[in-house]
Amino acid sequence: MQNLAKKISRVLPEDLIVLMEKIGALSDSFGFRAFAVGGLVRDLLLGAVNIDLDVVIEGDAIKLGHALARELNGTIVSHRRFGTCSIATEDGFKIDLATARKETYEKPAALPIVKFSSIEDDLSRRDFTINAMAISINRSSFGDLIDFHKGRMDLERRSIRVMHERSFLDDPTRILRAVRFESRFGFGISRHTEKLMKDAIGRSIFGRVSRDRMRDELILMLQDRAPLAAIKRMARFGGLKFVHPAINIDRDLLKLCNSIDAVYTRCGRLSDRRRAPEKWLMYLMALSRDLTYSQVSVICNKLALRKFDRAVLLLYKTRARAVTKLLNSKRDIAPSRVYKLLEPISYEVILLIMAQAALINSNAKATLVISRIKEFLAKYDGTSLQISGDDLKSMGFRSGPAFKVILDKVLYNKIDGKLKSKKDELEYARALAGNIAG
Ligand code: CTP
Repeated sequence: MQNLAKKISRVLPEDLIVLMEKIGALSDSFGFRAFAVGGLVRDLLLGAVNIDLDVVIEGDAIKLGHALARELNGTIVSHRRFGTCSIATEDGFKIDLATARKETYEKPAALPIVKFSSIEDDLSRRDFTINAMAISINRSSFGDLIDFHKGRMDLERRSIRVMHERSFLDDPTRILRAVRFESRFGFGISRHTEKLMKDAIGRSIFGRVSRDRMRDELILMLQDRAPLAAIKRMARFGGLKFVHPAINIDRDLLKLCNSIDAVYTRCGRLSDRRRAPEKWLMYLMALSRDLTYSQVSVICNKLALRKFDRAVLLLYKTRARAVTKLLNSKRDIAPSRVYKLLEPISYEVILLIMAQAALINSNAKATLVISRIKEFLAKYDGTSLQISGDDLKSMGFRSGPAFKVILDKVLYNKIDGKLKSKKDELEYARALAGNIAG
């Protein structure tokens, strides 16, 4: 049996190792066997840090969880029926503990029947061999690699292979997981696994899974490091039909996806004070580019998208064309005009319009769109006034809806560089208010 203790101490952060050792020692005291499983083991063998600690217990995971939560002063949420619990520690770790289990599926894509069992059964129910390895964390065997299904060999061969014939039928979200891992690691899906994927897609298996689970896996796929390869792969399999049958992956769309990657890398981290744009939403908007408003509404329902995400997706449909037209106009446009146009629009739509400039035939027009958006993001977005309604009140004006109109006008003039100081703002506001009052 191979022991990975040295690799663990080389790759994983010290506080995570201490935590693993603590869980191991506690398990010893209860007479349980404990294993770190899944992504952490896979990534460790690839030499990468993964701090999502998934632990499988041969014994009672909830009993162990309570003892661990007490020791770490953490909070615990448990699900007795599934024999699982999650612990959040004060220093920000989240540990998932599960009692080793065996799953059987009565119908394709249905919820499995769960029976508590051994680590061997627990690993056998998993998606791919590369995700079906475990590391013992009990004291006497700390670091021992458990690999019943040649997961390590598949990692070396860079191959994604299911554990059994029915894997995709049992859980169709694994189709999205396969392409996600393939594209993330630059691996290949084994030929047999690929055949099973195609068979499952051919049986319209996606319709049987809950909308929430499909949505969550799709988000993970589009949010991952290199979604383009996964999108292409899904399209080749006809696997994007579950999002909408009218999605058409043509050359322009691929170009747009490349451009999203570039824009997101450059502008995705807008600034600390702003909400980080959701990359997956940008990709989903791109996929729905040629679809009609009502087809996009169908996607929103099919994926049970949250209200905010729905609104962004539909906003793209209704606004993107007109906004782009104005931004690529050769006329002089005052910065405040661009501000009024872009300020109410979500960052995802703004960045996608920027990415779409790659598809505009005229270089001059594309440059105008990009530079105007960049200028808005760097200079004008988030501009605030030094004065407020209180200043207007202290000038003797009665507060009301006109205040907003006045303050907006002052803001637009400030953006256009006409007001430099608080005094300028006050004077301009006084003149505007006087006009309105007069
Ligand atoms: N798993 C599975 N089938 C699924 C989802 C998960 O068998 N549909 C198993 C795999 O063994 C996986 C583990 O549960 O490794 C943990 O799942 P998850 O945290 O979703 O993924 P990771 O493999 O940790 O990958 P990531 O790095 O993307 O989090």
